[in-house]
Amino acid sequence: MNDADNTQISASQPLEERLNNRSQRPSSDAFKAFMASNWAPFREQLPELDAVAGHAAGRRRAISELFKGERLVIPAGPLKVRSNDCDYRFRPHSGFAHLTGLGLDHEPDAVLILEPSDEGKGDDGGHHRATLYFRPLAGRDTEQFYADSRSGEFWIGARPTLAEFKAQLGLETADLAELELAITKNVGAPEIGGISIRLVRKVDENIDALVDTARYNTAKDPENLDLGVLDALDEKLSEALSELRLIKDEWEVEQMKTAVAATVQGFTEVVKALPRALSHPRGERVVEGAFFARAREEGNELGYDTIAAGGNNATVLHWTRNTGKVNAGELLLLDAGVEADSLYTADVTRTLPTNGTFSEIQRKVYEAVLDAADAGFAAAQPGIKFRDIHTAATTVLAERLAEWGLLPVSVEEAISAEGQQHRRWMPHGTSHHLGLDVHDCAQAKRELYLDGVLTPGMIFTIEPGLYFKAEDLAIPAEYRGIGVRIEDDILMTADGPVNLSAALPRKADDVESWMAGIYQEVEAQLP
Ligand code: GLY
Ligand code: MN
Ligand code: MN
Repeated sequence: MNDADNTQISASQPLEERLNNRSQRPSSDAFKAFMASNWAPFREQLPELDAVAGHAAGRRRAISELFKGERLVIPAGPLKVRSNDCDYRFRPHSGFAHLTGLGLDHEPDAVLILEPSDEGKGDDGGHHRATLYFRPLAGRDTEQFYADSRSGEFWIGARPTLAEFKAQLGLETADLAELELAITKNVGAPEIGGISIRLVRKVDENIDALVDTARYNTAKDPENLDLGVLDALDEKLSEALSELRLIKDEWEVEQMKTAVAATVQGFTEVVKALPRALSHPRGERVVEGAFFARAREEGNELGYDTIAAGGNNATVLHWTRNTGKVNAGELLLLDAGVEADSLYTADVTRTLPTNGTFSEIQRKVYEAVLDAADAGFAAAQPGIKFRDIHTAATTVLAERLAEWGLLPVSVEEAISAEGQQHRRWMPHGTSHHLGLDVHDCAQAKRELYLDGVLTPGMIFTIEPGLYFKAEDLAIPAEYRGIGVRIEDDILMTADGPVNLSAALPRKADDVESWMAGIYQEVEAQLP
């Protein structure tokens, strides 16, 4: 075949169709008819109402109260391509998960709409009626069922029907085919009887485009549409959804306990895997894999990429490459969290001596970090400001650094806004909210977050650290290459903070005896 022929053939087949070049798909009518016939009937039994349903309804009511008379559009997001026709595991947008109660991989392309209702006609006394639009299970007599590798039950397993999600979530459901009309109908200025929309943007670009088009088409003066004003409307919805998650309800607290319990098991598995990690050229990957196995066995996934950092890698704050060795006598910093099926995640760090015993200098740094964590914990009382946890913890670190002769200025100067020299070795925040996102409530206003007041129902981390890089010439050589962080997940209650991750030992002696106990148990089980 000459070049000219090649060109012709290439041009005749669109690139997106070439994914199918690797296999032959039968297309005869006989095949289609055969594939669409003779399947057992679908399951008939509807699922029970999920325990989360009442809580999710309460969350929707709270949002309804803030945006009376407006259409609220909350997408789950689409599947994301990893490469060619392989997608990443689907995870819905957290605001969508929060308001629907859906977890796991539910549900690509779905959209929750809160439609303003006439006074007194909303769901459960609210001002809106909620409908979940999604792509329901395609019947076994359809081509989608056996031929669509992204959404056909034949390919990906059980898919929900409209009736099933309705029964499970206590929520009206509708086919995705009705979504466009649901988003665009009657859009317009309220003064002429139109409905204005608020959208959680940048989750699904198709929905962004649909809303933009509806706004443009119904604007009085489309050419001069003020996108800044519309963006601000939308941002208020994202902000409200984020702030709604600042206080966890009882069901959410249970989910967090489930996630933390699985995470504790994951850390135990890592200790068991340490001997193998020590003898492996990429021991950090052995650690990562041991934890990941637990995350998939006990939960949905990891809540974030595991940091498995041996020796000096522990001083690299976002070390997730995990390609390093784990050397005996060094520390291993493990920052890892299991995400439960409900998508709530733990976020825990322990720093372990790889040979089971801290050296003197390792213990000295470790205990300073532990004292800082304890100071943060003691400060974390209902009614104090979130930011005061950080102040309490970092003040202890500044004091220790000064005692060791590492601070170039006095403690007072370092902790003043003009100083902050101690932050060279503790450059991150001490606390963040935790929940559906590892960095939960990230769109909340500053006055409700950093400047907010600790309130029962809040869940957040306390995670001070000290990181002395091997290449840091401002400190004596003995400190170099040591990185320590201790991170716990804290539930604020009316009686004070509760450490949800307290099952993992924190004191240096307790860490050593915990590790020794695990090895004794493993040995006792050997034949
Ligand atoms: N693992 C992320 C964090 O600790 O914030
Ligand atoms: Mn954290
Ligand atoms: Mn962490």
